[in-house]
Amino acid sequence: MQRVAVIGAGQMGTGIAQTVAQHGMQVLLADVDQARAEAGKAAIDKALGRLVGRGKMEIAEAEALLGRITPVGDYAPMVDAELIIEAATEREEIKKSIFEAAGKVLGADAVMASNTSSIPITRMANYSPDAARFIGLHFFNPVPVMGLIEVIPGLATAKATTDRITAFAEGLGKQVVLSQDEPGFVVNRILLPMINEAIFVLGQSTASIQDIDKGCRLGLNHPMGPLELADFVGLDTCFEIIKVLYATTGDSKYRPAPLLVKYVEAGWLGRKTGRGFYDYSGEVPVPTR
Ligand code: CAA
Repeated sequence: MQRVAVIGAGQMGTGIAQTVAQHGMQVLLADVDQARAEAGKAAIDKALGRLVGRGKMEIAEAEALLGRITPVGDYAPMVDAELIIEAATEREEIKKSIFEAAGKVLGADAVMASNTSSIPITRMANYSPDAARFIGLHFFNPVPVMGLIEVIPGLATAKATTDRITAFAEGLGKQVVLSQDEPGFVVNRILLPMINEAIFVLGQSTASIQDIDKGCRLGLNHPMGPLELADFVGLDTCFEIIKVLYATTGDSKYRPAPLLVKYVEAGWLGRKTGRGFYDYSGEVPVPTR
């Protein structure tokens, strides 16, 4: 693959764009407008600057990588892309309008993929021009660091599409887990109930934020505790995923923790808003309860 387009220049989209460009491909990076796409490229520049500063990447490599990323204000230039990856907000109506608009420029042989964490691929394939060339391609945050990609064919996805996208994912130096199109796929089906349960534990005052996280860091050897991780993923994203699990299965074990709902309603969405279960305004994150 030579040319890839990424729609959504937030945390996930920029991580995907960085990783794809790092592997020598040209990347078109889009968001709602040119300014947001440019801001996404600037965020990648900053991340690369940190790597260069720590001696993890040569300056020439960082410059070449950045040179392969072109921010765009609309989808027209994606007509030549072999793969369009949607990595927008985890809301179906937003993704639907992206697939419909980008579908108008999708090349005859190109694949459209969604980085959705939980929305059914088979259903979203209907919003694209060709369900046989539509697939789930689920990255993990931070994308340049995490070693896994989930590949999720929908009911109508052609085997050739799955094979091509699996080869693409492996070409990024990642390992692939193939999942059926079931709610939450594999990893989030397991992760989100854990995060949600941690929020129930906090809501029932069983332990403090710090102790819940410490318990899982030291007791389970997880790099981050579930509340830190929820802040890292974004509490709005966690809420959207657990809601999809609840709605699609009808199983009460997936009901969102009331405290999660409250935090989202307060706009305390985690790192991206500077406050979630921790306050990120100072040097070190401070628990908020
Ligand atoms: N590009 C390239 N490398 C990067 C990078 C970037 N943008 N950001 C960080 N790195 C590298 C660093 O250079 C560093 O490399 P070395 O180990 O070679 O020194 C390494 O990544 C670790 O970074 P830091 O030292 O800054 O930070 P850390 O050691 O505290 O680790 C972490 C940070 C990798 C995020 C770690 O805490 C971790 O693994 N946390 C759990 C993350 C996780 O579970 N992610 C999945 C979330 S769920 C999801 O994404 C799916 C969903 O749909 C919700």
